[in-house]
Amino acid sequence: MGKETLTITDNRTGKTYEVPIEHGAIRGMDLRQIKVSEDDFGLMSYDPAFMNTASCKSTITFIDGEKGILQYRGYPIEQLAERSTFLETAFLILHGELPTRAQLDEWTYHITHHTMIHENIKKFMDGFHYDAHPMGILVGTVGALSTFYPDAKNIMDPANREKQIYRLIAKMPTMAAFAYRHSLGMPYAYPDNDLTFAGNFLNMLFKMTEMKYKPNPVLERALDVLFILHADHEQNCSANAMRSVGSSHVDPYSAVAAATAALYGPLHGGANEAVLRMLREIGSKDKVPEFVKKVKAREALLMGFGHRVYKSYDPRAKVIKNLAYQIFQERGTNPLLEIAIELERIALQDEFFVKRKLYPNVDYYTGMIYEAMGFPVEVFPVLFAIGRTPGWIAQWQEMLLDSEQKIARPRQLYVGSGKRDYVPIEQRR
Ligand code: SDX
Repeated sequence: MGKETLTITDNRTGKTYEVPIEHGAIRGMDLRQIKVSEDDFGLMSYDPAFMNTASCKSTITFIDGEKGILQYRGYPIEQLAERSTFLETAFLILHGELPTRAQLDEWTYHITHHTMIHENIKKFMDGFHYDAHPMGILVGTVGALSTFYPDAKNIMDPANREKQIYRLIAKMPTMAAFAYRHSLGMPYAYPDNDLTFAGNFLNMLFKMTEMKYKPNPVLERALDVLFILHADHEQNCSANAMRSVGSSHVDPYSAVAAATAALYGPLHGGANEAVLRMLREIGSKDKVPEFVKKVKAREALLMGFGHRVYKSYDPRAKVIKNLAYQIFQERGTNPLLEIAIELERIALQDEFFVKRKLYPNVDYYTGMIYEAMGFPVEVFPVLFAIGRTPGWIAQWQEMLLDSEQKIARPRQLYVGSGKRDYVPIEQRR
C-alpha cells in the first residue's frame, strides 16, 4: 500500500496537489487550496443530502451497511438486545462503557426520580386538540421544557449536562404518555417509581382504576428491547438535526425538540406509522402483487424498506421480527403480518428491489408489534423518540466536546440570477 495521500491534478491550471487521507476520507478544507487565481475562493465539494460526506468523527455507533452490522460502543446490537436493558444501554451509549453494578444503580435511581414533569405542562398540553398527533405535542412540549430549566443553557458544565440528561431520558416517556392520555380524554397516570423504565411507561399509558398497575412482563421486556434497538444510529437525519441545532449552543431541550421534529417525518421515524397505513391500504395478501406494481411504477414507496446506509437486511429488523413472534404468542397475531411477510417475500426476490438493495429496515415490523401491544398508530414514532433520546444526547455531547466542531453552517453553489436593478411595479409585466 502506498502513501495515505491523494494527488489531485487541476487540469485548468496543470497544478498538482497532494492531500492526506485519514480514516478513508480527505478533509473538505484541503480542497480550498485548489484555485485558478489568487482571488479564487477555491474548490468546494458538492454533496446534496450529505450522500458521501462525513460531518464528524464519532466513537458512539458503528454501522457496516453492506454487512448489516450495528454496534453501540463496539458491542453488537444482537448481544445488547439479548442481555442488556435499555437503561444500561443508555448508560453505555452516553458514557462509553458498560456500567458497574454501583453505577447502574445510581444511574437508574436518578432516571427514576426525574420522571415527574411540572404541573404547568399539563395546562398547555390540555390546550392541544383531542386529536392532536402525539409527535406534534411532543415536539412542542420537550421544547417548552427549556423554559422550566433555564440553567440548561449552561451546556459546558458537565454536572449541569448530567442533570439535564437525567431529566430528558426520564421525562420523554412521561410527556409521551400524557400526550396519549390527553388524546383519549383520560386523566394522566403519574409515574410509579417501583416499576422499571418500560414498566412505568406502560403504567402511565394504560393504568385504569386499579390502585397499582402491573405491567405484563412479556410486553415490558419486549418494549425494553425495542428501546435498546432504537437507542442510536450514528448520523441519521434526527441525529444530524440534534448536532446542527446543538452547534449553535442552544440548550439540550431545544435541540431534542428539533431532533424529534426531524424524526416525525414519514421518511424517518414516521415510517413505522406509515407501514401500518400501507399494509391496511393493501388490505389482503392477494392484493400484494398489485401494490408492488404501484411501487415499481413510482406511484408509492414501500414504507419500511430501504436505507441510506444498510444495503442489506437491517440487523435491528431481524431482532424485531423474532420479537414479533413472542408478542403475537402473548397477544394474538396481527392480521397484517401475513401481508407484510408476503410483501417482504416478493420484494426480496424482485429485481427492482434487489438492484436497488432495498431491504426491510427497523420500521418494517415494529408497527405490527406496537399495534399488537395495544399502542395506537400515532404513538409509534413517539416510541421511536423515547428510545432514541440517549443517542441524540450522546451525539450532542460528543459534538460539544469535539475541539474540531464549530457552529454548523454549510456553503452553497449559487446558481441564481446575477445582479439586476429594482423595477417599479408599473413597469413589471
Ligand atoms: C429510519 O438514517 C438512519 O439511520 C435512519 C434510521 C435510524 O435508525 O435513525 O435507520 C431510521 O429512518 C429508517 C428508514 C425509514 N424510512 C422508510 O422506511 C421510508 C421508505 N424508505 C425510503 O424513503 C428510503 O429508502 C430512505 C429515505 C430510507 C433512504 O433514502 P435514500 O438513501 O435517499 O435512497 P434513495 O431515495 O436515493 O433511493 C435509491 C433508489 C431510488 O430509486 P432510483 O431513483 O434510483 O431508481 O431506491 C428507491 C428510490 O426511488 N427507493 C425506494 C424505496 N427506498 C428507496 N423505492 C420504493 N420504496 C422504497 N422504500
